[in-house]
Amino acid sequence: MMLDDLRYYTRGQASSIPRYIFQEIVTGLCGWVPSLPGIGLRALTYPAIADVAGFAAIERGVRLAYAENIRLGRNVYLDQGVYLHACPGGIDIGDDAFVMHNAELHVFNFRDLPHAFIRIGKRTFVGESVIIRGQGGVEIGESVLIGPGAQILAINHNHGDPIVPIIDQGIRSEGILIEDGAWIGAGALVLDGVRIGRNAVVGAGAVVTKDVPAHSVAIGVPARVIGSSVTTALTPHVRPLSHVDSLQRLERTRSSAPARVGRH
Ligand SMILES: CC(C)(COP(=O)(O)OP(=O)(O)OC[C@H]1O[C@@H](n2cnc3c(N)ncnc32)[C@H](O)[C@@H]1OP(=O)(O)O)[C@@H](O)C(=O)NCCC(=O)NCCS
Repeated sequence: MMLDDLRYYTRGQASSIPRYIFQEIVTGLCGWVPSLPGIGLRALTYPAIADVAGFAAIERGVRLAYAENIRLGRNVYLDQGVYLHACPGGIDIGDDAFVMHNAELHVFNFRDLPHAFIRIGKRTFVGESVIIRGQGGVEIGESVLIGPGAQILAINHNHGDPIVPIIDQGIRSEGILIEDGAWIGAGALVLDGVRIGRNAVVGAGAVVTKDVPAHSVAIGVPARVIGSSVTTALTPHVRPLSHVDSLQRLERTRSSAPARVGRH
């Protein structure tokens, strides 16, 4: 009985008990070491438990499960508190990608799903506290920007049966594709079955339920396309200048105004 419980637990963490023990020894001994010595130590030892192509900078307190299914490209950065859970299908992070503080990438394949995985392209930036669930497969291209707190969820629960608890009704998972150069704003939710085109922009807090074409900007709940990311491309350069300009004008008005004395 105890052994069954142990197996049940370790199946959630690694593909076998020996792999689980090895993974936990390596991460337990090396995962807490701070600063540069820790980064050096993990660069040397983590290739024993995961597939690491070259040097990867892994901060302390990074949690790995099913490390055997994790592939890290060259110069990948994993910030403190990152959690990679790489059930079958695995997690693949491309060269020069960043995964920031407390981001959680979880393939969540406990049902032998055929298309579960998470793949992140080269130079892609996964912001703080981003959550990615990969049951239906999540493919993220190169140089994609994912703002803090965004969630990319390739899973829906069936809910048609009025009696059976939804947790027992099974799932649908089609997968999510985010193409090269796209930008997902902070706190946006990207739901299953969606494709976000190349260089498209998803606004902060949007809930994306349908495809977003390449080079378009989508905002709101549910997200609607409001225009082209190409025509708004100058905004970031123009706005700070005009903003600073109007602040300076305000300052000038204030300093040239006569000092207020008493009541007016
Ligand atoms: C979507 C976004 C890029 C649009 O920027 P923009 O092209 O400069 O657009 P504007 O600011 O001119 O806004 C256009 C309109 O959309 C609205 N709008 C802008 N962003 C919105 C959002 N996220 N949700 C809802 N409405 C939004 C504006 O209020 C404005 O409405 P109005 O025409 O009625 O006044 C930007 O607002 C955004 O959401 N950025 C994400 C920021 C972020 O996540 N940063 C983290 C760093 S990764």
